[in-house]
Amino acid sequence: NLRQNVAALLLAHYDRHARSLPWRAPPGSRNLPDPYRVWLSEIMLQQTTVAAVIPYFDKFTTRWPTVAALAAADEAEVMAAWAGLGYYARARNLIACARAVTQDHEGRFPDTEEGLRALPGIGAYTAAAIAAIAFQRRAVVVDANVERVVSRLFALETPLPASRPLIREAADAITPQARAGDFAQAMMDLGSSLCVPRNPQCLLCPLRSCCAAHREGRAEAYPVKAPK
Ligand code: ADE
Repeated sequence: NLRQNVAALLLAHYDRHARSLPWRAPPGSRNLPDPYRVWLSEIMLQQTTVAAVIPYFDKFTTRWPTVAALAAADEAEVMAAWAGLGYYARARNLIACARAVTQDHEGRFPDTEEGLRALPGIGAYTAAAIAAIAFQRRAVVVDANVERVVSRLFALETPLPASRPLIREAADAITPQARAGDFAQAMMDLGSSLCVPRNPQCLLCPLRSCCAAHREGRAEAYPVKAPK
């Protein structure tokens, strides 16, 4: 069935081609990544590219290696370390969230979407991403890259943003029970490497045999743009 096909093809590709990123567990490792590092990376990656985030992520985790260390940090020093990433509300929420985890949750991040959403600065997307990536919960993780991949897989004719409920439903249908965090990151990697907005590299794509847009020979036409 479709769920098993898409997930199996994508995870096999991910096992060979996953980017090595400082917040991911080492390739082949059976350990889950550190929730503190997953959370910090997801906050930084909101509105900022992977390449721009990496040096900041390294700086922060060297200076504040644990959520308890960040909770005890001097606010002005955190704001200064954040300078250049932009959207400074994220940095203020970062400190507030580290303090909430330390004071209200004994220093451990909640392991459910609902628990995570209750923390400062964590919205629906970020809660799903952390639950899946740090705790391997079966959460449906949809960012802009995943919206494009799913729109193409199912050749969704409804334009964004009206298609969002359909995209969620379709993403839910292909998310596997096991390895949901790897699946989410594999979808993000696909959307930023092969299934890109212009000139998608369908010949290299592990999902081309299941992709409705590729079958039509018009991957680039999706996601459909609303007429102006
Ligand atoms: N964008 C947001 N979160 C990401 C992740 N975990 N890996 C790659 N790109 C991302």
